[in-house]
Amino acid sequence: MLDLKKIRAEYPILGRTVEGRPLVYLDNAATSLTPDCVVKVINEMYHCHKANVHRGVHTLSQEATDLVEATREKVRQHIHAQSIEEIVFTRGTTESINLVASSLGDMLQHGDEIILTVMEHHSNIVPWQLIGRRKRIRIRAVPISDDGQLDLEAYEDMFTENTRFVAIAHVSNVLGTVNPVKQMIDIAHRHDVPVLIDGAQAAPHLALDMQAMDCDFYALSSHKMYGPTGVGVLYGKRQWLEKLPPYQGGGEMIGHVSFDNTTFADLPFKFEAGTPDYVGIAALAQAIDYINELGMDQIAAHEHELLQALTQGLMEIDGTRIFGSAPEKGAVVSFLVRDINSYDMGLLLDKLGFAVRTGHHCAQPLMARYGVTGMVRASLAFYNTLDEVHAFVAAVRRVAGMF
Ligand code: ALA
Repeated sequence: MLDLKKIRAEYPILGRTVEGRPLVYLDNAATSLTPDCVVKVINEMYHCHKANVHRGVHTLSQEATDLVEATREKVRQHIHAQSIEEIVFTRGTTESINLVASSLGDMLQHGDEIILTVMEHHSNIVPWQLIGRRKRIRIRAVPISDDGQLDLEAYEDMFTENTRFVAIAHVSNVLGTVNPVKQMIDIAHRHDVPVLIDGAQAAPHLALDMQAMDCDFYALSSHKMYGPTGVGVLYGKRQWLEKLPPYQGGGEMIGHVSFDNTTFADLPFKFEAGTPDYVGIAALAQAIDYINELGMDQIAAHEHELLQALTQGLMEIDGTRIFGSAPEKGAVVSFLVRDINSYDMGLLLDKLGFAVRTGHHCAQPLMARYGVTGMVRASLAFYNTLDEVHAFVAAVRRVAGMF
């Protein structure tokens, strides 16, 4: 069992008020809160180790470099990558996906096809469309059933001799559906097609194993997993990262530069141009230790209990429509009550101290699939309590009664 009192004491922000009421933070899928132990590392970096990495022989630079490289190893262990060469630091999931799309785009030909799904976040749609501007690439989207599950038969039928890549969310940021990524990766590999998994919504909630999953690329963000903002990870199988051309040019990603020719650094540095966010990267190691000490199983069990209570409570409110009820579902509930606009609901909930996300959730094709322009989304984390969930349901009932 998680000791929620002790856990919550690590988050001073949970003690603040909004509109004179205690804050109930239910926007964890947008960004998670950050515990004191992680903030402490950020402070320590600024106070004691503020120096650029991989560039200096002086002690401070060496210390900062060691901390960054220790995080790389920590990430490797956490997601079970084979080697640290397969761990690239980026600014976030979005940049990780843009890196792959942009570099892979150089290798694609007119007429090639990419498979995405209807439930993708814009960050796993638009980067692929940007390639489409350079080359005539066809994007196909796997449809979903009403309860928010991917149609695997349709997926399998989409593969043609022109299919070059598959990119899919591990967990939907709107529906919460945990997609059968292993099965989908196996299908793609049978067609000799590599797969990128957008793990932004999975990394905070699920144990990750790159060996078992066998994806070719995996993207995640630190700020959604209790770490600092501005840091992301791209995992890539070594053979793929070796094949892809660099994404951005600049310092650190080179072997040798002359005006005639430039050679590139070895992995992973080939993809890390410029000064990285070494403060945030060092602090990410602490966030990983923190969630592992709590235990991913414990986190999942508590969040599951909250999810059930939230779903049950909202369903009892007349006229509520919940989007996404797949059997494998993460701790997210997107809903509408009657025809109440999601922004109106969100603004009134904020007045009562509840932070939720409203609108299209960066998933407009998914909104179109359900014939709506927006939804209200409550997304949970392990520091949320059953009392907060019950208070939230009561608040939604109260707001619904105002219309
Ligand atoms: N991708 C984040 C969300 O779903 C920002 O809210």
